[in-house]
Amino acid sequence: MDKLDVKLWSLAAKGQIVPDRSLLKTPEQIAAIRKSADLNTAVLDHVAAHIHAGMSTAEIDKLVYDFTTEHGGIPAPLNYEGFPKSVCTSINNVICHGIPDENEILEEGDIINVDVSTILDGYFSDASRMFTIGNVSPEAEKIVRVTKECVELGLKEAKPWGHLGDIAFAINRHAQKNGYSVVEEIGGHGIGLEFHEDPFVCYVAPKGSEMVLVPGMMFTIEPMINEGSPDFFVDEDNGWTVFTIDDGLSAQIEYMVLITEDGAEVLTK
Ligand code: MF3
Ligand code: CO
Repeated sequence: MDKLDVKLWSLAAKGQIVPDRSLLKTPEQIAAIRKSADLNTAVLDHVAAHIHAGMSTAEIDKLVYDFTTEHGGIPAPLNYEGFPKSVCTSINNVICHGIPDENEILEEGDIINVDVSTILDGYFSDASRMFTIGNVSPEAEKIVRVTKECVELGLKEAKPWGHLGDIAFAINRHAQKNGYSVVEEIGGHGIGLEFHEDPFVCYVAPKGSEMVLVPGMMFTIEPMINEGSPDFFVDEDNGWTVFTIDDGLSAQIEYMVLITEDGAEVLTK
């Protein structure tokens, strides 16, 4: 047992949830994952430079597939558990896992989440952004702004020997203060060696609860914020697309973070 093992063991003995050592990335793994994350950011920048009213979400999918593969990567969503495309595109009342479609056209006033995940040399990265298409309503503008604020407030709580619940609490409090709700059942995840690793990251939890944060942990901060009810349903035909139950707007922003010795580093956003 080294010093870290002793510390983790004694926290566990006090009833804390601690990460398995396998969830703590080595410097070599971090270096390789960082390259994947840098490509992931470049893909998102590429989408940002080309997204516009009148294009289809299938065109976004093509931008992602072409750019990723031209740079030696593989889009992680493609064929993941049967997902048919390279990116998730979730418009307005779609909470997440929207499937790009040539008949789905971006219109002025839409808000869209583009969720990009990349495999490079076997290492995984994941981040998503919100885009506003042309002029959007004040309501749409606000939920996008507040969602960004939620993620930034959560990020401030991401530091060694804190808890995942600290992040959740900050996010949920800010969402509620603005009259919004946070989806509880769909959350973030560990990442790096796999697309989805432990822990599951919920954004509805009290301070000091859930897993202890330890240097070397990597996970996503990706709350889904709803204008109205947090409840949802899944498209019966495709088995993926998640809609708000009340047709209200939903927004999501995802950062992939590494817990460091003195805080957290955003690897891709
Ligand atoms: N990028 C999504 C996430 O944040 C992954 C969704 S799975 C997919 O976890 F197959 F839809 F891509
Ligand atoms: Co994710």
